[in-house]
Amino acid sequence: MKIYPKNRKTALDHDHESLIKGFGLGRDGKIYMEYQFSSNTDKRTIIAVTKTRPQTVFHTCPAVQNEKPCWHLGAISLALTNSLPIEVEIQEQEVTPSVIIKDMTQDILDKQGDFEILEVIEEDVPEEDAEIIDLPENATWLEQYGFPSAVLKKILAFRDKQENSLTDEQKARIPNPEYIQSGTELINAVSPMLYGKQGEAWEAPLLIGPKGSGKSTMAETLAAILMLPVNKIMGGIDINKDSLLGSKTLVPAEELDIITEAKLREGCKRAGIEPDVMIQRLRSSQMRVGFDPGILVQAVEKGELLVIDEVNMLIPEVTSLLHGLLDWQKTLPVSEYKTIEAPASFRLVGCMNFGYSGTKALNEAFKDRFRPVKVPHLKETLLAELISEKTKCNESVAEKLAILFKALAEGVENGDLPEAVLSVRSLFRIAREEVDGCGTLKSIATSVLTEGLEDDFEAKQTSDVIEAHLG
Ligand SMILES: Nc1ncnc2c1ncn2[C@@H]1O[C@H](COP(=O)(O)OP(=O)(O)O)[C@@H](O)[C@H]1O
Ligand SMILES: [Mg+2]
Repeated sequence: MKIYPKNRKTALDHDHESLIKGFGLGRDGKIYMEYQFSSNTDKRTIIAVTKTRPQTVFHTCPAVQNEKPCWHLGAISLALTNSLPIEVEIQEQEVTPSVIIKDMTQDILDKQGDFEILEVIEEDVPEEDAEIIDLPENATWLEQYGFPSAVLKKILAFRDKQENSLTDEQKARIPNPEYIQSGTELINAVSPMLYGKQGEAWEAPLLIGPKGSGKSTMAETLAAILMLPVNKIMGGIDINKDSLLGSKTLVPAEELDIITEAKLREGCKRAGIEPDVMIQRLRSSQMRVGFDPGILVQAVEKGELLVIDEVNMLIPEVTSLLHGLLDWQKTLPVSEYKTIEAPASFRLVGCMNFGYSGTKALNEAFKDRFRPVKVPHLKETLLAELISEKTKCNESVAEKLAILFKALAEGVENGDLPEAVLSVRSLFRIAREEVDGCGTLKSIATSVLTEGLEDDFEAKQTSDVIEAHLG
C-alpha cells in the first residue's frame, strides 16, 4: 500500500496532530507510535513499523481493511522518510508493544512524548541503530522473523562474508528456509550464534522439543539465514571418536611431476620396458602415513555448520571431544593429525528431545556449553496453514487435522497415547492421501496413525481419538 502526501497532511491537521502521543524506537528494532483513537475518546492504541526495507506496518483500522491509506499511516510515515509517497506492506494485526529505548517524539513532532501504553526505558542507542536497514534482494525473506536490528546487522555482515568466500559446491549445500516461527524461538537460536561484535563469541544453540516439532527444519533454516552449508551427524553408540575425526591411511608420498614422468617414459621406451607398469610401481612404492578426515574434521576445517541430532545420545568420548569447539577456544584437537582451529564461520547446532526413552540425561558440563532453545509444536492455525501449503489439501481438511493433532498431543501428554502418534509428517501423509482420494479422512487417518502401533490397546485408544474428531 502507498502512503501519500495527503495522508500525512491529514495527520498533521490540527485535530489529528494532537492525537499523536509519541514515537519511540523499540528494543525489538521496530518504530512505535502511540495515538488516541479520536477526540471523542480517551482510548489509545499503537501502530508499529519495521526499520528494514521493504517496510512492514503493523496496524489495523477500517480504512486499511478497505485498502485505503489512513491518517495513522500518514502519521507513522513521519518517522520513516521526508519524501512521500512510500510503499509499505501492511500486516493487519494488533500490536504488542515492545520496550521503547529512545523517545523520538521531540525530533519528529517537536514536542515531548506522552506515553501510556508504551513503556520508555531510555538506553544508549548508537547513532547507526536509529537508521533504516536495507535488506539485499536475496535476503528480504529475513524480514518475517522480526530480528532485532543489532542481530539483523550481524546476520547481513555474516552473509556478506559467506557470499564472497563460499564455492559453488558449498552454496549448493545451503538449505532452504522452511521453518515457521511460533514465538521468538528462531531469534533465540540465531542470537547466540552471533554473540560478540562480529559474531566471534558465538555459542551453539541446543534445540529442544518433542519429535516432529521442527528441530531439524529449524536447524536448516539457521543454516539458510547464515548462508552455511550443512553437515549432519546423529548421536548414538555407533558414533565414536574415530568415525568423527577420521583415521590414518596410506597415501602416495608425492605425485610424480609431469617432467619426471615424461623423462621416465622416454627412458622406458628406449629400454623397451612398458612405462605404465613402471610408473605405477614407482607410485605405490612411495607411500606415507596420511590422514583421512572424518565428517567432524571436515566440517570444522571448511568452516561450515555442524548439526548434531540427538545430542543426548552421544557417548562421553564424543562429548568430551566437542568441548573445545564449544568454549572460547573453538579448537578441535586431533591427536593423529593436529589441533584444528575452527575458522570464523564455523558454527554448531545441537538438537534433542527431552525424556525420549533410551536417552540419558545430558551431562551438565556439556549442556552448559549450549544456549537452550525450546522448539514448540506449531499452534493450530499455523499448523493448518503448513499442512495445506505442503500438501495442497482442502483448507477444512487441514483445519481438522490441526485440531486432531492438538487432541493427540494432549493424549500423549496425559500418557494415554504413545508418542509415536504425534508426528507432523503423518499429518502430511493423511492430507496427501486424502487429496488423492484414498479413502475418507477418518479411514486414512486411522490407517496412517495406528498401523505402526504394535500394542492393540494403544491402537484402540488412538482410533477413539480419531473417531471423536473426524467421525
Ligand atoms: N515450525 C515448523 N515450521 C515448518 N515446518 C515444520 C515446523 N514444525 C514441523 N514442521 C514440519 O514437520 C516435519 C517434521 O519436522 P522436523 O524438523 O523433522 O522435526 P524434528 O526434527 O523436531 O523431529 C517436517 O516436514 C517439517 O517441515
Ligand atoms: Mg529431526
